[in-house]
Amino acid sequence: MTDVGRHPRIKLHTLSEVVGVKGYVGSFDVRILKKARYVDEKECTACGDCADVCPVVRPDEFNLGLSSRKAIFSPFPQAVPSAYVLNMNECLGHNPSVCAKCIEACDKGCINFHMSDQEIVEDVGSIVVATGLEPYDPTELDEYGYTRFENVLTSLEFERLINAGGPTEGEVLRPTDRKHPRSIGFIQCVGSRSAKKGGNYCSNVCCMNTIKGTLMLKEHYHDIDIKVFYIDIRAFGKGFEELYTRSRRLGVHYIRGLPGTVEEDTAGSLRVAVENTATGKLEIHHLDMLVLALGIKPASGTQKLQEMLGLQLTADGFFLEAHPKLQPVDAATRGVFYAGCAEGPKDIKESVTQASAAAARAIRLMHKGEITSEPITSHVITENCKCCGKCAEVCPYNAITVDVKKKIPAEVNAAACAGCGTCAAECPFGAITMNHFTDSQILNQVEALLEEEPKEKILAFACNWCSYAGADYAGVSRLQYPPNVRLIRTMCSGRVDEKFIWEGFEKGAPVILVSGCHIGDCHYIDANHWTEKRIKKVHKKMEKSGIRRERLQLEWISAAEGIRFAQVMERMEALRQSVTKEEIAETIEILKNRKK
Ligand code: FES
Repeated sequence: MTDVGRHPRIKLHTLSEVVGVKGYVGSFDVRILKKARYVDEKECTACGDCADVCPVVRPDEFNLGLSSRKAIFSPFPQAVPSAYVLNMNECLGHNPSVCAKCIEACDKGCINFHMSDQEIVEDVGSIVVATGLEPYDPTELDEYGYTRFENVLTSLEFERLINAGGPTEGEVLRPTDRKHPRSIGFIQCVGSRSAKKGGNYCSNVCCMNTIKGTLMLKEHYHDIDIKVFYIDIRAFGKGFEELYTRSRRLGVHYIRGLPGTVEEDTAGSLRVAVENTATGKLEIHHLDMLVLALGIKPASGTQKLQEMLGLQLTADGFFLEAHPKLQPVDAATRGVFYAGCAEGPKDIKESVTQASAAAARAIRLMHKGEITSEPITSHVITENCKCCGKCAEVCPYNAITVDVKKKIPAEVNAAACAGCGTCAAECPFGAITMNHFTDSQILNQVEALLEEEPKEKILAFACNWCSYAGADYAGVSRLQYPPNVRLIRTMCSGRVDEKFIWEGFEKGAPVILVSGCHIGDCHYIDANHWTEKRIKKVHKKMEKSGIRRERLQLEWISAAEGIRFAQVMERMEALRQSVTKEEIAETIEILKNRKK
């Protein structure tokens, strides 16, 4: 952090919040609200004279309330910049006659009560989202007694206690009597792997953090009794299994089962009831202190940032990468990358690895001084545009601007457009075309594929990233599926215009399949939501016109689902066989009459 603070080409905005982002890869305008520090950060030497005279005492957030600080304070040792900050909400007042002792104590005159928040705009080419995490709040898990018993601590509080720079200088003291505990218990998975409270995912770091804690305790207090209550221990990193084995060898008891209740006796000790699932017996353990190994939650503000940058979130609320294997640090929005727990729970090593990868990806993108983009982008035919704004509404990348009120036609920003083609499919006036996937190109494919014996064919639209790759996978896996499937590739299922479907039926297709990535996995953020809506609309129209809706199917098939691809095609073949010649002829007639 100190290196970052000193680096001549890194601008660090502390006490700041991103309040708006506009633009696209290569040219993002980031609006930053820089909060007033009330201390000149360039002049302040962090001597601490101001804090010495400040009469306001408040709990120190860095030590999680286990120690205190003043209203003017340094957030934590080694904070960058090395300057104090004044919390104006806690300060006794702007009026010097109320207090102002800090101003008098500061020889360099760094303190200024009249500073105000500032808004800054930075123009940047790429963005790395490294918003960190939030620890799980255990107050809702009342069975562990965190809110009722002082000797129940969180893993973060324990971390501050055992840290040499912490409030007790590394001495582990029981909060109620400030004596060394003779026994300590750790409860794992607090707020993790639970469908009811917290997240149902593994928080990745808690097992190893507990093991590290037990080793430190055993190092300082040889005869301390340590018990770890767990579901299972996940020590899968390099060298982690050895640490786990060492902890066991040092006499730490690992008990499989999470406590049901925690009660306190008169001496402040804790009575922990647990079902040991290894022995099937109910056990009661008496412990001096209990540590809750907290799970990891997405950082607060994740959703706000997601909306600002047009990013995607997983069901757990973390940011979703563009591809879990091929683009693990990229966001679906070009020029945005992820580092650390913003993308999911991870330990320091993984966070550093991902941060280095994100930095390298950003440098690779920016170092040439110019951005190259794929030629597959949308293009507006201005004379057809009626300025309805539908294209801008459906674009997952905010790449289209259109002024509905002033009737200024749509314009596509080619640098921001990722080429899903949803706008082209949704435009009711045919005013948007997609380079390399134009309407006429796709309609010609439909026509060619159904030119001979259309009744025997299964017409399938497959998105490039998932379903088409799924078909490939089925092929390389030597899976058998009906040979009469005719695939038309689009970049995204969002590109499948309803006119392609009507054209298919009109050309005699017995069945049509539209397939794409699973919902939440679309490579163009949420473009396949529009596919889903569109297909529902077409189904309604089919029903109204007397065409069997089953003849149009929508299936989500991922790149790894070769077997599923083959199964879906088998189903489509069975469906195709159920469609009679007469039914096809009737459909063609209906559609021709509709056109008239
Ligand atoms: Fe596959 Fe959008 S990329 S559905």
